[in-house]
This record gives sequence, C-alpha cells and structure tokens, in this order.
Amino acid sequence: MAKNIKVMTVFGTRPEAIKMAPIVLELQKHPDTITPVVAVTAQHREMLDQVLGLFHITPDYDLNLMAAGQTLFDITTKAMNGLDKVLTKEQPDIVLVHGDTTTTFAGALAAYYHQTTVGHVEAGLRTHNKYSPFPEEMNRKLTGCIADLNFAPTATSEANLLSENVPKKSIFVTGNTVIDALHHTVQDDFAFDDELLQGIDFEHKRVILVTTHRRENLGEPMRHVYKALRQLTEEFDDVEIVFPVHKNPKVREVVNAELGGLEKVHLIEPLDYEPFANLMHRAHLILTDSGGVQEEAPALGKPVLVLRDTTERPEAVEAGTVKLIGTDRDRVYEEAKRLLTDEAEYQRMAESCNPYGDGEASRRIIQAILYHYGLVGERPDRFEAK
Ligand code: UD1
Ligand code: UDP
Repeated sequence: MAKNIKVMTVFGTRPEAIKMAPIVLELQKHPDTITPVVAVTAQHREMLDQVLGLFHITPDYDLNLMAAGQTLFDITTKAMNGLDKVLTKEQPDIVLVHGDTTTTFAGALAAYYHQTTVGHVEAGLRTHNKYSPFPEEMNRKLTGCIADLNFAPTATSEANLLSENVPKKSIFVTGNTVIDALHHTVQDDFAFDDELLQGIDFEHKRVILVTTHRRENLGEPMRHVYKALRQLTEEFDDVEIVFPVHKNPKVREVVNAELGGLEKVHLIEPLDYEPFANLMHRAHLILTDSGGVQEEAPALGKPVLVLRDTTERPEAVEAGTVKLIGTDRDRVYEEAKRLLTDEAEYQRMAESCNPYGDGEASRRIIQAILYHYGLVGERPDRFEAK
C-alpha cells in the first residue's frame, strides 16, 4: 500500500484562514496519500469563523484562545501549550503554518519542539525592519529559521530566503494562495446581502474602501489617517467611504471618535470574505494597512494607497498599482486627492497586474509536499509572474 502522510495545518487569524483554506481543500483531494488534520488556535474568533464557514472547513482541533485585550505573551503561551497537546496526540508527519502572525511562529516552534517537519506557506517576505511590521517581521524570520520546506510566493521572496542561506532545494516558488481564494470569490454580478451595501450607488459615487489594523498604527497614526479621510469626504461630494472596522477595540475607539456619525462614512462590521472581495471589485480606490489586501487589489485593477512606512510586498509597488504613503495626515490627504482629481494618474495605477499568483499555488504546495515524501517524482512547476 502507498505511504500515507499526515499533514496538519495550523492557523488562527482571518488572513491565515483565507490563505490556508485553498490548501485545506486541496489536501482533501488526495485521500490515498494524505490524511489532513486542521488545528486552529482561534487567535481570532468571529473573524476566523467567518472564513471557516465560507469554505466549509470544520477544524479537528480548536484551541479557542482569543481573549479581549490579548497580549503577544498571552497568544504565544496559550498557542504553545495547546498545540503541544494536539501534536502529542496526532503525531503528524508535517505541520504547515502560514505567513507571519503569532500563531504562525508558535505553530512552527511547537512543531520544532516535537521534532516535526515544518512547511512555511508565504515564506520569505521581508521588510528588513524588525519593528515594522511588528511583530510580523520577526515572526516570519523566526518561522523561516525553523521551516524545512519554504513555499515562497514570488521570486523576490525566494531571493530573500537565498540571501539568508536557506537551501535552494527547500524553496518552492508557488504564487500566493490568496489568489487561489480570490478566483473562487469575485463575480461581476455579485449581489450584496447587506442592505447598506445594496443602497450604495457604485455607478455615481466614488467609493473609497478603507481597512486599518496594524499594531504599529494603533493610536495616533490611525487618528491622522481618519482625519484625512474626513477632510476628503467634506471636499468631494461624490466620495463615500466604506470602512469595515477590525474587531480590535483599540482600532474601534479611534475610528468611532474620528469618523462616527458622518453621513458619507459607512462604518460597518468586518465583512465575510466573499462580500469583501466583491466590494474591492466595486470600489474606486482602496486605502489600507493590510497585507492581504495589497495582494488582492492589484489583481482586481484597483489602486491601493498603503498606510504604512514599509512593505514586504514590493512587487505591486514596482508595478505601479500600489503606493506606500505612511500615515501622515497631509500626505494621506494629498495622495488620495491626487487620485480623485488626476484621471491619468488614476488610470495608470488602475492597470491590473498579477505579480502575486495565478490561482495554482495550493496545487504546487501539495505537489511539493508529495515530492518531499517521494510520493510523486517531479518537483512542481515554478510560478512565474506575467
Ligand atoms: C493579528 C495578527 C496580525 C494580522 C491580523 C489580521 C499577530 C500579533 N497579529 O492582529 O499579524 O495581520 O491579525 O487581522 O499575530 N478581536 C475580536 N474578534 C476577532 C478578532 C479580533 O474581538 O475575531 C479583537 C480581540 O479583542 C483581540 C484583538 O481584536 O484581543 C486583537 O487581536 P490580535 O489577534 O491580538 O491582533 P490583530 O491586530 O487582530
Ligand atoms: N477581509 C475580509 N473582510 C474584511 C476585511 C478584510 O474578508 O472586512 C480579507 C481581505 O480580503 C484579505 C484579508 O481579510 O484577504 C486581510 O486580512 P487583514 O487585513 O486582517 O490581515 P493582513 O492581511 O494584514 O495580515
């Protein structure tokens, strides 16, 4: 009988779930060679459950660790202790973690303590600044030190790993699974369930979609951004803002203080991934500090102003669809105003490009795992950006 390997995926937050879901679904397609196990830390609760529901994934283990006001120490220690028990019981052949959250790092470290093989999905992203984004840059570097298999989304992320002396044969350039997920989701005739979104006149209004959550932007940097947004709605009659507000109470406090009660600013709950992706598709412009949104929006041909000082995703900046603008109030206002008044500049940034993936990343990742265990003879093809 052919060998069967047990593959445990570990994730905990919304973006990890969105980007791991296509992998979980792909793992289920190989029952003869793969036994999949899903363990979630639930570092996020509602925002994780939204994604699990959409992709019909029922975790085998749920550590349910989220607490209001959780610290990095809380998340790390609870995840480590919880995963120790799960790993002891399941004894997987390989643990897959994704990206750069505290769940990612704790998952990799727990697997290492069990001397279990670790595969890192979305490996090799770097800003080279250990406090920006904080703590993500260090989470992904430390995970990279532990990982045995590195699934780098792009040639740039592969080059980062090679410069850190990661063995070339352990790196597979796969594209980012977020593009796999996006392919399932965006439709031209999508109808929103939400009454507020149904009521927005996307043809005659220019909708700015906003998300913010980065730890290093909490407090004053976010306040600056929101003041600039307010000024823009006061100045442009046809501009409306749709802002699905992250569940973090530290984000909500400042959002409500600066943007609460304004007629043209729609503060809403985090959207399910499907309406959110379709909202990106309808929006005129996106302002965000999100990593995932920086990858998705270029594929949809939407200009993105990134509310951060650094990015680990330089590909779309180089392609010209994403611009890094930081959080200074005047700069945010000026950059957004430029795109609202300079049609040629807007069109230049609205050229769609797809440097992050082609929808085949999960297939390549599963093939790489099977190849590592000698269950297929060929390495997967390499993702080439077009
Ligand atoms: C986390 C990740 C970050 C990732 C982001 C995606 C770390 C250190 N941070 O940041 O890398 O980009 O997720 O969104 O791993 N909350 C809820 N319900 C939810 C989710 C969050 O109430 O479904 C609230 C809780 O009060 C929680 C707080 O948000 O304590 C912060 O959550 P946490 O995971 O610590 O940080 P994020 O800023 O979400
Ligand atoms: N997203 C979502 N609903 C929202 C806001 C974002 O489904 O209301 C999705 C978005 O499409 C992307 C992911 O969440 O795939 C990004 O998550 P987040 O910005 O929280 O984290 P980051 O990518 O910065 O780690």
